[in-house]
Amino acid sequence: MDYPVFLGLIGGALFVYRLLLTVYRLVFHPLAEFPGPKLAAATRLYEAYYDVLQGGKYIFQIGELHKQYGPIVRISPHELHVNDPSYHATLYSHIGRWDKYYFTFKPFQRPGAGAFTIGHDDHQKRRAALAPFFSKEKVSEREPFLSEQVELLVSRVERNVASGEVLDIGIAYAAFSMDIATGYAQGNTMGNLDRTDFNKDLANFFTDFGPLWVLGKHIPLLPWLFRRAPKWMLSYLGDRLAAYKAFSQRNLAQVRLVMSESKQAATDTKGHVSIIHELLKADGLPRTSSKEQDLFDESDIVLSGGTEASRTLRVLTYHLCANPKIMTRLREELDKAAPVGSKTPPSLHELRKLPFLTAVITEGTRLSYGAVTRLQRIAPDRTTRYGNWTIPAGTPVGMSNGLIFHDEEYFPDSHSFIPERWLDPKEKAKLDAVFAPFGRGPRMCLGVNLAWAELYLSVSALFSKFDMELYKTTIEDVQFGSDAFVAQTKSPNGVRVTVKHRRDASKF
Ligand code: HEM
Repeated sequence: MDYPVFLGLIGGALFVYRLLLTVYRLVFHPLAEFPGPKLAAATRLYEAYYDVLQGGKYIFQIGELHKQYGPIVRISPHELHVNDPSYHATLYSHIGRWDKYYFTFKPFQRPGAGAFTIGHDDHQKRRAALAPFFSKEKVSEREPFLSEQVELLVSRVERNVASGEVLDIGIAYAAFSMDIATGYAQGNTMGNLDRTDFNKDLANFFTDFGPLWVLGKHIPLLPWLFRRAPKWMLSYLGDRLAAYKAFSQRNLAQVRLVMSESKQAATDTKGHVSIIHELLKADGLPRTSSKEQDLFDESDIVLSGGTEASRTLRVLTYHLCANPKIMTRLREELDKAAPVGSKTPPSLHELRKLPFLTAVITEGTRLSYGAVTRLQRIAPDRTTRYGNWTIPAGTPVGMSNGLIFHDEEYFPDSHSFIPERWLDPKEKAKLDAVFAPFGRGPRMCLGVNLAWAELYLSVSALFSKFDMELYKTTIEDVQFGSDAFVAQTKSPNGVRVTVKHRRDASKF
């Protein structure tokens, strides 16, 4: 057969296949009756247009689609999205089995990690192995370690008081939260706070990985290649990727070290020093790949999640500096908790009881969103309901913090930083029903207690001691501009400040 004729036949067959597929998706597919644009129902290229060509903007288009089509919309051939905060507790419920959606997590190439485990039952086993390690009690036990890291952060800020140099505090926060995550979960910190540059390439990798994730969703080969590329090749692609590769290699080395000592670890009676020890102890964990690879996947992703608190700290720093009245009220409360002359700062236990500090941090988690993207859940074995709609078994349904947290019915003036909205217990209860920056249900953040401890201790220490002034930093440097799984800011300059000792206080 002639080559052109052969190509023509292949092209023709593909065309007919696409045509039949489109007809199936629009007319016969189990989601065919759901509202939404026909183009989105026909092809995922609709989503790719907003995400790949416009750079993570599908979330905003989804918001527009809800205005046009109502609270439930078919946003791709396979997926539904709900924009109704009152449905949150139902979708992210502990009742029944809920899988995650492969499409969102495959770009990370870490199938051995609990956070990215698709199947409900496998996830439950992986989570159960780690949950006690991250309990509130365990976090409280580690308070001395956390305070040590806060002191290190404070001492690094002190250096800029002395030098008068501008401080990229977002980078310092990233170093701080990565050191906490590694120290807490691996038993030894990465030492980023000791480095002159705070390991800024790694910090920047975590703020900038969004486009890779977005591309990886639509071009599956890309993340596969990225994971397998040798270090020397990545260094040509940029210092940030090379820093990430070095971080991962460190994690792999830690896994190998603990595995080589696993006999001793299994009989350790003094408590366990790392998540790898916990995982080695656990029976019947699902295997995705080799034991070493699975342990590495878990460790790499838990530690990457550990940088999340730094995002909240950046947002908080911007808003506290930009709102002197809120800063004054916060300091009044902190000063009462540790009056002038007191030698030690308030404990975690005391800080947890401070209502305004708690409200400030809560509002910071709102405007940093946690995961901003839609977090799909799939009921694999039953139909579910939204209003009068019956959702077929196996359908991914998502909701997005990036939209819910700006629902003006719940969060009036939603783009403004208003900690006071969390102070009235009745109002707070109403908001808590729809507010979940750490997620909700069986897949909720495992590091929530650690993150809160980190935020309480660092916010209270920093803003009790220092006056910070924003330097060439605008609201766009902390505002949500695109969906990069987490929120990518509108402007990429980070949060920079000049720092002085607090003028109106003489303590600490
Ligand atoms: C302000 C800080 C943080 C925020 C807002 C946050 C947010 C989230 C969210 C929204 C999820 C759920 C994702 C989903 O439903 O798929 C999640 C999961 C997770 N987070 Fe965090 N996180 C934070 C800090 C941390 C820290 C410090 C750690 C640990 C060092 C951590 C470890 C995890 C893990 C392991 C999961 C997966 C849980 C599971 O699937 O069972 N996070 N986080």
